[in-house]
Parts: sequence; structure tokens; C-alpha cells
Amino acid sequence: MQSQTKSIRVFAPATVANLSCGFDVLGCCLDTVGDEMVISITSEPGVRITKIEGADLPLETRKNVAGVAVEALLEAYESEVGIEIEIYKNIKAGSGIGSSAASSAGAVWAVNHLLDNPFSPQKLVEFAMEGEKLASGNAHADNVAPALLGGFTLVRSYAPLDVIKLHTPEDLVMTVIHPQIEVKTSDARSVIKQKVTLQQAIHQWGNVGGLISGLFTENYDLIGRSLEDVIIEPMRSILIPEFKNVKKAAMDKGALGCGISGSGPSIFALSKGMETAKLVATAIREVYSKTGLDFDIHISKINSKGIKIIE
Ligand code: HSE
Repeated sequence: MQSQTKSIRVFAPATVANLSCGFDVLGCCLDTVGDEMVISITSEPGVRITKIEGADLPLETRKNVAGVAVEALLEAYESEVGIEIEIYKNIKAGSGIGSSAASSAGAVWAVNHLLDNPFSPQKLVEFAMEGEKLASGNAHADNVAPALLGGFTLVRSYAPLDVIKLHTPEDLVMTVIHPQIEVKTSDARSVIKQKVTLQQAIHQWGNVGGLISGLFTENYDLIGRSLEDVIIEPMRSILIPEFKNVKKAAMDKGALGCGISGSGPSIFALSKGMETAKLVATAIREVYSKTGLDFDIHISKINSKGIKIIE
């Protein structure tokens, strides 16, 4: 008996969460960095991770972010299905560009596709958040939402979940530097103080509104002015070598804004146009070359579609 009936290979993109002012609520999807996954429907009920390449991650379903996310989906599907998952990781764990989110979002998106799309993108975000909960102890949606919906997304509310896709201005390009040190999201969350002052809150929600308005009106200056974080960045940036110098180098070369990508250690700089993004890459490479640390640099346009099927 042939056990595999249907199978697809998907590209599961990296994402940049928070975007400075929007801790846990804003994120965007990258185009040139991501994992690949092969998802198959089989005749044997249950979820099995059959292969992982490129990372040392657990094959056990309950311990794997893709596994728990798909289990959440199948529980809601209420009919017996067998799923096999192969994961080909390119995004390093603990890099701050949504490694766990790519796996959980990619898996639920592909399973939904193979089942003829019974669930809305919003429901898929909910299932994928189970993977984030396993990875970091917190079911944040600001990486899985842009991976699933593409472009820029806002989590307007967590209870009930309300995820909104924002507009993506065509000319925005991300430059991301990933220093090869691991910062676990759970550790980076533990350094954050749980209280903010009213002054900080006023500052921050002005910027969130400004950034969203800037995206919709394609006002690049406004986008740049709004990429500011007075709450999280001061606490977390101390975990990232050369953060201040990288930011200065990026801004000096004309980046619209620069901040910590997700929980770090990656740093993102958003620019208008590929030319500026490349200049920014050269400048931050220079800063990091002096540290003796290994690092990767990615340049990517914003991926407005999110996860996609590949051959
Ligand atoms: N919003 C999350 C955090 C994103 O900053 O902890 C993790 O990638």
C-alpha cells in the first residue's frame, strides 16, 4: 500500500518582529531568507517529523514547534489525518529573525493547503502560536502573523486574537545583521521590566500609530521617525555587541530606522531602496568585522505574500 498521497514543498520565510516601537504587536516578512519544508498527508493518522536538516532540533512531535502547531490544527479539524513533516532549516535558532515561527507557520500553512484550506489565516496564526509558546514560553504572534499573512502585520488584540495586515510600500528594503551568538527569546524576555511609565507609553503608542500611518500613506520619513523604541531597546541592546555602533553606521548611511530584530541578537535597518540598503550592509559589516565575531548579513525586500509553495 502506498502511504503518501499528497505532498508539497513550501518556503517558510524569516520575519522581523517588534519593528522597534511595536513589541509583540508589529512584524514584517522577509523575502530572501527562510526555511524549506516538505509536508505530506499520509494514511497513518498522527503527526510525524521524519527529517530535520540544518539544525539540531527534536524529532519528537510534542517537542517540536511545527509538531505542536500542526497538532493544534488537527485537533480543530476533528477528523483523522496523518501528516509527515520534513524541515530544512536555513534560519538559525535564537537568531531573532523568527526561526521557530517559520517552522510552525510553514507547517500549519502547508497542512491547511493540503486539506483544501478549511481554516482562515487568523486561525492559522492561532495554531502557529502554539509553536511559539513551546519555543519561548510565550504565545506571541508578531513573527507567525507576518510569515502567514505576508507584508507588515499588526496584532491589534491577543484576547480575542485580532491580526491585521498592513500596507507594504514597494521601496522598503531590510538589511539584517545576525551576529553568531545565540540569544534565547525566553532569556531576552526575562530582562524586560514588567512596568512602563505613562510617559514611555505615550511615546511608544505615538510611534506605533505613526509607523502604521506611514506605511499606509507610503510616507518614508514618517516611517523613519516612528522606528523608535523607548521601552524595550534600552533594556535588550546591552545583550548585543556593538549595537550602538551598528545603529549609528546604518543611520549615517541613510537608513530610515534601525533596531533589534525580534528578541535579538539580529539587528535590522530599514531603508528606502536597494542602493541605500546595500550601503547600510557595507557599513555595518565594517563595524562587525572589527569584533572578531562571526556574522551573517541579509538584504531583503519585504515579502508581501508570506509562505509559498516551491518546486
Ligand atoms: N516579540 C517577541 C519578543 C519576538 O521580542 O520577545 C521574538 O522574536
